[in-house]
Amino acid sequence: MVKIGILTRNPEAWCSMNLIKAFEKLGAEPVCLRFSRLVAKVGIKPAVLHEDIDVLKELGAVVIRPIGRGSLDECIFRMDILHRLTRLGFPVINHPSAIEKCIDKFYALTILEEHNIPVPRTVVTENAKEALKAFHELGGDVVIKPLFGSRGVGITRVSDPEIATRIFRALQFTHNVLYIQEFIPHGTRDIRAFVVNEEVIASMYREGKSWKTNVAQGAIPKALKLMEEAEEIAIKAAKIVGCEIAGVDILEGPNGLRVVEINSQPGWRGIQTVTKVNIAEAIAKYVIEKAKK
Ligand SMILES: Nc1ncnc2c1ncn2[C@@H]1O[C@H](COP(=O)(O)OP(=O)(O)O)[C@@H](O)[C@H]1O
Ligand SMILES: [Mg+2]
Repeated sequence: MVKIGILTRNPEAWCSMNLIKAFEKLGAEPVCLRFSRLVAKVGIKPAVLHEDIDVLKELGAVVIRPIGRGSLDECIFRMDILHRLTRLGFPVINHPSAIEKCIDKFYALTILEEHNIPVPRTVVTENAKEALKAFHELGGDVVIKPLFGSRGVGITRVSDPEIATRIFRALQFTHNVLYIQEFIPHGTRDIRAFVVNEEVIASMYREGKSWKTNVAQGAIPKALKLMEEAEEIAIKAAKIVGCEIAGVDILEGPNGLRVVEINSQPGWRGIQTVTKVNIAEAIAKYVIEKAKK
């Protein structure tokens, strides 16, 4: 029986439990792993241990659930271990290079733009004065986002230049990078497309109470049969950044669709409520196939 590692902060989280069940149902043995218990060795075998498990020998693949917050050391070390595993021919899903591209909103957006995926106009700088210029250049109605962030936390909409100035100065003072994006009027909903292996297996509208439409911010999942254009964009976007599993966020603006981000470790608790497709099983099936190759 193939053993699959699920690298997660919280094995009891809904998605982890769901995934564990799916692997068991499909005849694989799930093993929960934590970054804090991994040991990497150089010049000594085995190269990667998790407690007493030799990851390369005993497991067929590892799925990455949210990597979580950590110090710079921890984050870099975690990515280093994942890269080491992939270099040694071990399947890590998503591939660490895909995760790196997506957790950094600037990195992701530049790659998407370079491949002609429509994205909002965005300016990124460390300089508060330049940020204020960008505020005007972007039409005086912008969203300011943390470079690394999720669940809508820390994102603010600003349309007053004085408030913008204060925010930019404060963020510069605390050495944050200023990520400033044109506000895309999208009513109070956006599209989340869930991609597995170059296919949109589920999609939803997220209906928010305001412009921020993260489920974590109170938005409600609504069933959606994805239009062809959005489907193509979502598949292409996931492929370009190298995500085998992805949650693609798309806004419907007055000038068409805009991809705002790609989640490389997406949850599916919300979207699962509006689709008949068993998302955990689709993920598990894909990972087991990869593990067997
Ligand atoms: N440029 C934008 N214009 C309007 N709304 C936006 C814009 N960017 C993000 N949003 C809203 O904020 C939410 C969170 O933004 P997103 O970039 O996906 O960051 P997070 O990683 O926090 O989910 C989006 O789902 C959308 O509702
Ligand atoms: Mg998002």
